[in-house]
Amino acid sequence: MDDSTGQGRRGLLKCMAWAGTSVVWTMVGGIPRSALIDSAQAATTAGALNFVQLSDNHIGFSRDPNTDVTGTLQEGVNAIKALPQKPALMIHTGDVSHLSKPGQFDTAAQIIGSTGLQAHYVPGEHDVLEDDGKSFIERFQAGVRQGAPGGAFYSFDQEGVHFIGLNNVTNLKAGGMGILGGTQLAWLADDVKDRSASQPIIVFAHIPLWTIEPAWGWGTDDSAQALALLKRFGSVTVLNGHIHQVMQKVEGNVAFHTARSTAFPQPAPGTAPGPGPMHVDPGQLRGVLGVTSVAYVPGQSRLAIVDTPLGA
Ligand SMILES: [Fe+2]
Ligand SMILES: [Fe+2]
Repeated sequence: MDDSTGQGRRGLLKCMAWAGTSVVWTMVGGIPRSALIDSAQAATTAGALNFVQLSDNHIGFSRDPNTDVTGTLQEGVNAIKALPQKPALMIHTGDVSHLSKPGQFDTAAQIIGSTGLQAHYVPGEHDVLEDDGKSFIERFQAGVRQGAPGGAFYSFDQEGVHFIGLNNVTNLKAGGMGILGGTQLAWLADDVKDRSASQPIIVFAHIPLWTIEPAWGWGTDDSAQALALLKRFGSVTVLNGHIHQVMQKVEGNVAFHTARSTAFPQPAPGTAPGPGPMHVDPGQLRGVLGVTSVAYVPGQSRLAIVDTPLGA
């Protein structure tokens, strides 16, 4: 690629992101802000759809390295409120709560609701610990179209973009991979079958839809079947949470991206001490927590995704 802009690696990544090349790259533990085009830049392009992603607030968690997850969620919400352009909507990729308790759901709903944004949620495994997720679904998915009774998956359209929220956390085995299941896959096939291949697709789900670390359950058993249904589309973006760190890759027409948590980091895949809250010094905590802004510009197959840490 011609790097006449002189931006070096930054320019290369930017070009790759927008040109939708099939080059694969993976980054662990966060990417520089400048790696992808800035959302403010994208927002100046006519017709851009800007939205935010929030994930893994774990309200109710209160151990090392973060005894104030309510405070750090509030900081994330403040960062969203401070964006130069009001986002059109929010997607939430799960683990709103730590233990699915009503009080934890209340606190999260109140803080997130203060953004004034329409929020579209999918559950994390921490949100469905009680009553098969019924209370989560009733509280956070009220009014959305259900793919099946209690299924917690649905789709909607906004400004020409088709959003698909999937549930891959019901019936998880301990340490096991995520699973979508036959009912949801059949619903997905039906949901996309009559759509034009030129319509941009954004899929969001809690556990990554690409295999990151099978021994830790960081992947989804039947994700290949879901992705096969989306193969004919020219622009597919898959946004996930669960692993509490930024990772991304591009494979053909599909871009995968995972978001930071607002509560605590987890280790890089396969490294000690294993999955779960990772200790960091208090001064470094906000550098590994954050929120994500996404901009879709009509005609561009790749979305601009910017991960903003809560602090330096
Ligand atoms: Fe989580
Ligand atoms: Fe999770």
